[in-house]
Amino acid sequence: MKPKVLVARAVFPDIVERLRHYFDVEDNPQDHSFTKQELSQRLNGKIGAFTTGGDRIDAEVLDANPQLRAVSNMAVGYNNFDVPAFTARGVVCTNTPDVLTETTADFGFALMMATARRMSEAERYLRRGEWTRWAVDMMAGSDVHGATLGILGMGRIGQAIARRGALGFGMKVMYHNRSRLDTSIEASLRATYVSKEHLLRQADHLVLVLPYSAASHHAIAAADLALMKPTATLTNIARGGVVDDAALAAALRDGRIAAAGLDVYEGEPSVHPELLQLPNVVLTPHIASATVATRRAMADLAVDNLIAALGFGPNAGRPSSPINPEVLKH
Ligand code: 8YV
Repeated sequence: MKPKVLVARAVFPDIVERLRHYFDVEDNPQDHSFTKQELSQRLNGKIGAFTTGGDRIDAEVLDANPQLRAVSNMAVGYNNFDVPAFTARGVVCTNTPDVLTETTADFGFALMMATARRMSEAERYLRRGEWTRWAVDMMAGSDVHGATLGILGMGRIGQAIARRGALGFGMKVMYHNRSRLDTSIEASLRATYVSKEHLLRQADHLVLVLPYSAASHHAIAAADLALMKPTATLTNIARGGVVDDAALAAALRDGRIAAAGLDVYEGEPSVHPELLQLPNVVLTPHIASATVATRRAMADLAVDNLIAALGFGPNAGRPSSPINPEVLKH
């Protein structure tokens, strides 16, 4: 009898077929979103799971499923996992870094540009039939080229955005991060390390790319928004919860910053109702990694990780991107 695994969301059929080679697979072709309790129940009897960023696995779920050995997240972010709880119980967890870096950076840059140049607002204006003549200030936005790009969180994606800004658009790039990059990397990105306060005060376009954790909860709140230039834009491709969305809506409404571009939200897929009403915000439904090629690459890496973490396939015991590699040593 093959060991059992769960595929928590609908994925490419060949991914499920690959798993069926080794495992008895329960999949979810209807793509139901499971509550935490349903997910926990479906994990009963499973030694492994293929999850996405919306599938929360914490100590309670792990305790209800002591047979679980590995969980593979098809996402680079893993704030849906309680990693210390995984590690304490000897359960491996993996994510999908690198394969989505450039695609996500493309999207972050595009969202920042759309925000600066008021593209969604302009399209809505045109579709409403309000474009009847030229006007000197019609949909006038702010320049991206040559402006100061502020990046909060300078991991792989932050660096890829910095490269686009500095080398492609002649932007002055500054960043803040928990740790400073090597000076050689800073030089290659033409990026300057500054304090968070300096970043907020100086950025013309602030882009958030930091992982979500208790430490980064509401990293951008009312007091932070108050430091920004009234002409500045804010782009969030990190995670909902990094920004206090109610405070952001108030700042956008009151003109304390010019505009925002958001791909992620507190409590998504719900969006703060005031954000939905504001003209000066570009809203997208958490699609920064969504290209056909990248979603494939993420799924391929996630399935390789799960097979390997469970001790099967050519890389048995050696998943390429473990989040808690210390578990693999035992
Ligand atoms: C995913 C993401 O679309 O990788 C991440 O961290 O946020 C996105 O690429 C999402 O989490 C689905 O798993």
